[in-house]
Amino acid sequence: MLEDKIKWNTRYKNNKMPNNPSDILVKFQNLLSGGVALDIACGNGRNTKFLADRGFMCDGIDISDEALKLIVNPNINTHCLDLDICDLKKNMKKLYDVVINFYFLDRKILRTIPDLLKNDGLVFIETFIDDEEYKGNIEARKILEQGELQKVFQGFKVILNEEKWIIRDRGERAKIISFVAQNKL
Ligand SMILES: C[S@@+](CC[C@H](N)C(=O)[O-])C[C@H]1O[C@@H](n2cnc3c(N)ncnc32)[C@H](O)[C@@H]1O
Repeated sequence: MLEDKIKWNTRYKNNKMPNNPSDILVKFQNLLSGGVALDIACGNGRNTKFLADRGFMCDGIDISDEALKLIVNPNINTHCLDLDICDLKKNMKKLYDVVINFYFLDRKILRTIPDLLKNDGLVFIETFIDDEEYKGNIEARKILEQGELQKVFQGFKVILNEEKWIIRDRGERAKIISFVAQNKL
């Protein structure tokens, strides 16, 4: 959506986004031994670069061309695509050893991830999850439901499935889920 592109371009131009890689990639880096990786809604590539540094050839997709300009790495191919209207399987035309999806929820894309992974491929996901105590202002369509990831990744070996409360920029509490799983061998 054009609206999303404008909003995110402004944030990346104003340097409002974190640069450090996600804690779960760092924690499970022993599982990351190279191959091909896909970062869905990669933003400035904070996580894509972490994978590229560990020997992966990466595809990074995002709607924000300002974010993608911040990724200059010979091991990362960037794709400026609107995931609301893109058929990932048709566009990417390959299977991945690792697919990561951090803080971007599109249920159509989420359900495609199992089909994008090689046998024994790994998925890393971290994003907001619903909780009855949560009274924040994230749009409901952008929050995972309880048990939703377990349904999508049924049959996968679950390596991490952890929920915790965080404090967002504006001081608001929100619950996130960190999820790591491996495709059936
Ligand atoms: C909260 S940021 C997360 C970025 C990155 N995954 C990270 O963890 O640093 C959300 C990202 O989703 C991207 N995005 C939002 N709507 C999109 C769409 N329709 N298609 C592709 N990317 C989109 C934004 O440009 C932004 O980079």
